[in-house]
Amino acid sequence: MPHLADVTRDRVLFGGDYNPEQWPEETWPEDVRLMRAAGVNTVTVGVFSWSKLEPRPGVHDFGWLDRLMDLLHDGGIGVVLATPTSSPPPWLGHLHPDTLPRDEDGRTEWWGGRQHFSHSSATYRRHAAAITEALAARYAGHPALTLWHINNEYCTYDHGDEAAARFRRWLQDRYGTLDALNTAWGTAFWSQGYGDWAEILPARRTHYLKNPAQVLDFRRFTSDMLLECFVAERDIVRRHTPHLPVTTNFMPLWSGVDAWRWAEEEDVVSVDLYPDPRDPLAARHGALVQDMTRSQARGPWMLMEQAPGPVNWRGVNHPKPRGLNRLWSLQAVARGADAVCHFQWRQSRQGAEKFHSGMVGHAGEEGRTYQEIKRLGADLAKLGPHVVGTRVRADVAVLHDWHSWWAGAQDARPSARVDYADVLHAWHRALGEAHLTADFAHPEHDLTPYKVVVVPQLYALTDAAVDNLLAHVRRGSSLVCGFLTGVADPDDRIRPGGMDARLRALFGIRTLHEWWPLQADETAACDGFRGTLWSEEIEADGTATETIPYKGGELDGLPAVLRKGGAWYLSTLPEPDDLRDLLARVAAEAGVRPALDGLPADVEAVRRGDLLFLLHHGREPVTVDVPGTHRDLLTGDSVTDRVTLGRYGAAVLAR
Ligand code: GLA
Repeated sequence: MPHLADVTRDRVLFGGDYNPEQWPEETWPEDVRLMRAAGVNTVTVGVFSWSKLEPRPGVHDFGWLDRLMDLLHDGGIGVVLATPTSSPPPWLGHLHPDTLPRDEDGRTEWWGGRQHFSHSSATYRRHAAAITEALAARYAGHPALTLWHINNEYCTYDHGDEAAARFRRWLQDRYGTLDALNTAWGTAFWSQGYGDWAEILPARRTHYLKNPAQVLDFRRFTSDMLLECFVAERDIVRRHTPHLPVTTNFMPLWSGVDAWRWAEEEDVVSVDLYPDPRDPLAARHGALVQDMTRSQARGPWMLMEQAPGPVNWRGVNHPKPRGLNRLWSLQAVARGADAVCHFQWRQSRQGAEKFHSGMVGHAGEEGRTYQEIKRLGADLAKLGPHVVGTRVRADVAVLHDWHSWWAGAQDARPSARVDYADVLHAWHRALGEAHLTADFAHPEHDLTPYKVVVVPQLYALTDAAVDNLLAHVRRGSSLVCGFLTGVADPDDRIRPGGMDARLRALFGIRTLHEWWPLQADETAACDGFRGTLWSEEIEADGTATETIPYKGGELDGLPAVLRKGGAWYLSTLPEPDDLRDLLARVAAEAGVRPALDGLPADVEAVRRGDLLFLLHHGREPVTVDVPGTHRDLLTGDSVTDRVTLGRYGAAVLAR
């Protein structure tokens, strides 16, 4: 199997999306000059080029791309070649309206934007395969080609008739009989029993609440259909270039596709990451996405896109202050990235993204953005030989599962305030603020590498996942579970007792009487901390080895936290510092150490291979104690016992 290592060869891949079709050809040599001056070694080409490559049905124009590929190769720049299938040309929708997706109201999503394709359309799939075939055949032998990039941020839904037909087939494969489907979907409720497969619809607009099991399956189906589209194109390019790796770029922590499943089909896992520079927790979000992507990749991964400056799709779009793009890029490398790429190379002058930054902004070569890109290129060049291919080691795993997310993120729940992604962020942030490096894992993955496993929230668990958690604790390792875990089975059927009986026994819960979700302005006082978002009326079975009770209010004296040996259950979400302290304590008791002791709050420390990355997310200089003598790979200086980091400063220390 081809790997990212086949492409990197001791260099951090550095560059971005390059859309030269937006520019006169005279600009291209200038682009290559600026790329070389900045140390750019990789660009992604062709993501949105379908109408240039196939201006009329079956009529190809590859001349411009031939010249571009040659030019890039002559400049020593490798090409990540994209299949252009995320934005079909207008002629496709015009000639074949069946290629266009429908929203839940049956409205067509027209061309004129992008991603206007139906994953279920046989016509779309045929045309996508044909352009992929033509592209792969033409460039298979081109020396600039290093990696395939299929489509772009797969993320579309389709509720149309062809999708309905495919949904029915998908359900037939899953359930076999209508009886089984009716049982799984609980269609006895509200007179929804199906007597004919033809009656089944995608999750279209309904008058009142939709059947949650139907919605859950529709989300599974959507992820699977998009994956089929990916696999079809992947197989075409693989046939032409079996030696080259294939990727597609994930959106960060996007709920639409089961990225665990998808990652198994990729040679290289890549992600796009756009933290908001104004968000005080932006770097924590970045760390989460990076840890998750590394875990999906099970090794080095690609940061396929980040903004070199502002994006243009938030309400208010702030640039990155001086130094921040470098810091966040180094953070990605610290957390396992072997590629640091951007969207996009040259800022557009026209189109929907003309206010989105580029590595070469409207200000051009003199602009701060390009100047900072140059500096970043130089830094990455220094790190490459030391860092590429090395592993990040984590003793802690955070469990995450899309199917549980889909089951839990529906209407008519005990609290609309419980947002799965927020809860996941809260727990990952707590680990980060305790300076503990964590992987992510699927609940059925092998957990033996981890001394501590945390489950922020897994509302729906398979039996195999429950067994996995029990086995983890039986091995003597630690498990910390948040509320609303183990509540439902994979069909979104509530488990008897409101929580899986084996989990209740694991934590020492006799009866889970009621959930008491909290309002935005409400907290639950507990002995030694305050809970937020949620609380529970639990009766313990007397087997817990430690109990932290609620104090005051309706739940006074009842357990807020139960611990039974290595297994902890948190029936509320402690405030950030309290969750941090609790997880730090569990980790310390399990023998898990932070990357470095005594770190200032704003400094993130991550060990990758033999290197220690120190990343300063604050603006005031700080001094960090680093016992011993090291060499800072960024400055080349020798560092003994302490290092000072300036505003958004970083050090990469080698022994
Ligand atoms: C996504 C897309 C890019 C571009 C950027 C803008 O990541 O993949 O094509 O639209 O967003 O931030």
